[in-house]
Amino acid sequence: GDSDRINIAIDGPAGAGKSTVARKVAEQLDYIYIDTGAMYRAVTLSAQRAEIEPRDGDKLAAHARTLDIKLAPGANGQAVFLNGENITDLIRSREVTLAVSHVAANETVRDLLGKLQRQLAVSKGVVMDGRDIGSHVLPNAELKIFLTASVQERALRRYKETADTQSITLEQLEQEIANRDRLDEQREISPLICAKDAIVLDSTSMSIDEVAATIVKLSRTKLAEA
Ligand code: DC
Repeated sequence: GDSDRINIAIDGPAGAGKSTVARKVAEQLDYIYIDTGAMYRAVTLSAQRAEIEPRDGDKLAAHARTLDIKLAPGANGQAVFLNGENITDLIRSREVTLAVSHVAANETVRDLLGKLQRQLAVSKGVVMDGRDIGSHVLPNAELKIFLTASVQERALRRYKETADTQSITLEQLEQEIANRDRLDEQREISPLICAKDAIVLDSTSMSIDEVAATIVKLSRTKLAEA
C-alpha cells in the first residue's frame, strides 16, 4: 500500500550528481526514478525541430500543448518518448543543453510538465529529480534533498564525462554551468530554490555512492516515522 512508500524530491543545480544519485536511490529502494529535466529537454528538442525560438513564448506554449511526452523507467535508466519516438539520446546534445534553460522559463511549459510530474507521483514510491520538485511540484514529498557541489567540482565531473575533450575546455564548461545556474536561479517562475524543509547535501567531497547511501538512510528514517 501507499503507507510503506514515500516520495523523494532531489533538487539542485546542474552537475551536482542528481540524476546518478536519484537513479541509485531508486534502485536501492525499488522505487521509480523520474528525471524531470528530460521532459524540459524533450520540449526543447521538439521546438528546435519545429524551428521555434525558445524566446517566442506564445509559439512555444502552443507547440508544447500538442506534445505527447512519456517516460519509461527501465533497467538502463529512463527512456524518453516524444509522440512515440524514442528520443532518449537526442535530448543530451549540446544544442539542446544550451537552449533548455530558456524553454524551462516558459510558464505554460512548466504548468504542463508540472501536471505530468504530479500524476507520475500519485502512487508514491518515486524519486524525482529536478529544480523545483520539493519547492513546487511535490510540496508534500516526505523527503526533500537539495544536492549541491562547487561550480569547479561540477565542471570537472562534466569534463571527465565528455568523450570529445578537444572540443571544449574545462574553463568553458565552468562558464556554461555558472551561466545555467544563473538562468535557473533568476527566472521568475519556479526558480531553482532550496525548499524550507529540504536537507542540504554538499557533494563536493562526497562520492556518488556516499550521497546515495545517505539519502537511502534518510528515507528509511522517514519510513520508520510514518
Ligand atoms: O537536469 P537537466 O540538466 O537535464 O535539466 C535541464 C534544464 O531543465 C535545466 O536548465 C533546468 C531545467 N529544469 C527545470 O527548470 N525544472 C526541473 N524540474 C528540471 C529541469
